[in-house]
Amino acid sequence: MSTRPNEAGKLPLPELAEMKRRGDRIVMITAYDAPAARIADEAGVELILVGDTAAMVMLGHDSTVPVTLEEMLVLTKAVTRAARRPIVVGDLPFGTYEISDEQAVASAIRLVKEGGADVVKLEGAGRMLSRVRAIADSNIGVMGHLGLTPQSATKLGGFKAQGRTADAALKLYEDALALQEAGCFAIVLEAVPAAVAARVTEALEIPTIGIGAGAACSGQVLVWHDLLGLYAGRQPRFVKRYAELATAIGDAVAAYAGDVRSGAFPEDRHTYSIADEELARFEQALAEPRVVST
Ligand code: KIV
Repeated sequence: MSTRPNEAGKLPLPELAEMKRRGDRIVMITAYDAPAARIADEAGVELILVGDTAAMVMLGHDSTVPVTLEEMLVLTKAVTRAARRPIVVGDLPFGTYEISDEQAVASAIRLVKEGGADVVKLEGAGRMLSRVRAIADSNIGVMGHLGLTPQSATKLGGFKAQGRTADAALKLYEDALALQEAGCFAIVLEAVPAAVAARVTEALEIPTIGIGAGAACSGQVLVWHDLLGLYAGRQPRFVKRYAELATAIGDAVAAYAGDVRSGAFPEDRHTYSIADEELARFEQALAEPRVVST
């Protein structure tokens, strides 16, 4: 069954919980610019995440930590200019919500008011539950993120799967329930055993969006550059590449360079003409002696 947009064409947020209830899987993808957002919208995804993975796949950092709110705002604005129907999730970057509830609300407001995001996402539970409550109380939807939370990868001992012991799985389960209670409308589960993600999904009313968390999640998310074969860095096992665009783009750029060097590009059809009489007048003007001002 297809999902219903509201009058303005935007998918209403409560529709996500309805989809979970109906057993319709939710599709989320990341995007960081207007062309990608337009393509994702036309492909019919429900959610576009302007993820802080931008730090790695767009800005060349080796973790998500360095990206700033200002940088995320530029990318979020580009996405929201193009995305019509999908709900756009603005990702709160590291350092913009940890200090206090006030800081979290102020950062979330900037993503929504300046960036045009529909809702925001933050990582973790524990102290972050109070941030979720504060943002939700400000009438901004909040998506949670549990399991492998890349902003705390150093503390977690690297980009590793989480919830792989009974204690860790139980903690994750309780954190997910607490995030729901605090007001999250959905939770990303990243790099979590499928069996654990299935139990968490079953226990929640809100949807789970899995990335490396198995097929029982209410939906799935993949990073744009991973899905399209555009990212040359570390490739987690949960990535499925649906295209090899880096190769296709590399071939195209090499062909262009070859054509420029050989003179095969540009051809006449790529250039502009000038009327014969105008060209003749131009040549005549060039032939006349000119006064060169110094
Ligand atoms: O920033 C991001 O792209 C994410 C996804 C991996 C879920 O958080």
